[in-house]
Amino acid sequence: MTAKTIIDPPSVAPARAGRILAVASGKGGVGKTWFAITLAHALARAGEHVLLFDGDLGLANVDIQLGLMPAHDLASVVEGRVGLAEAAQPHEGGFAILAGRSGSGALSQLAADRLDRLLGMLREESARLDRVVLDLGAGLERSVRRMASFADTLLVVATEEPTSLTDAYAALKLHASDSPAGQARIVVNQASSRSAGERTYATLARACQTFLGHAPVLAGVVRRDERVRDAIRRQTLFLTRYPSAPAALDVETIAAAIRGA
Ligand SMILES: Nc1ncnc2c1ncn2[C@@H]1O[C@H](COP(=O)(O)OP(=O)(O)OP(=O)(O)O)[C@@H](O)[C@H]1O
Ligand SMILES: [Mg+2]
Repeated sequence: MTAKTIIDPPSVAPARAGRILAVASGKGGVGKTWFAITLAHALARAGEHVLLFDGDLGLANVDIQLGLMPAHDLASVVEGRVGLAEAAQPHEGGFAILAGRSGSGALSQLAADRLDRLLGMLREESARLDRVVLDLGAGLERSVRRMASFADTLLVVATEEPTSLTDAYAALKLHASDSPAGQARIVVNQASSRSAGERTYATLARACQTFLGHAPVLAGVVRRDERVRDAIRRQTLFLTRYPSAPAALDVETIAAAIRGA
């Protein structure tokens, strides 16, 4: 039995995703930040006006993966020193980045009402953009759940590891109760092949279908590629450094599906 026969409706994303995308996983280290950066870049290359927002309030690292020294960041916005639009820095990849600040108490202990105010500012700013990509932290604590349900579309990244699958399921379950009308899609990352990734998706989708009564569609499969590690080590954009690598093509395909192209 193949993934396609197990899951109904079909596992291909049918329509355009929302303007605000959040990338979550539950489990840490599955590739959320790398995927969020690369997706933002792919969407920008397709002509979209994109903001990549580092929503990891504890251990922000978009700036680290790209070797940035931002003049302003999310903590500056929360402290009221600059506005959100001013804090967002243009990047050579053709998209803007609002960096986080790793280890900032102001961010990691942000009260619920202040987080909501920040998200209100982001919603307002998003009206001037085609897309916002929100990279979330690991875990499923209050602020992660709040940002996941704030997004129009939640992209849950899973790998084939059992702990990743159970954490991704937990993220999807909480999202279904926090945001019953919300849209979630699954990204399988670090797959050994496309078909192995589709099998991983089918396992997760089956659990969702059985226990939640609904299976999120597959946003896409990204194959495992040692060049990802290399690009991160060099603090360069993956699509610039390795534009024809399989993982690059996979992220471009996901970006096209998100655009409904
Ligand atoms: N497709 C891939 N192929 C090979 N390695 C990958 C792939 N995607 C991510 N990785 C590796 O996974 C590691 C973790 O990536 P990343 O920091 O983006 O994960 P994360 O989910 O954001 O982690 P955290 O939960 O700590 O925020 C990186 O070192 C990267 O090299
Ligand atoms: Mg991360």
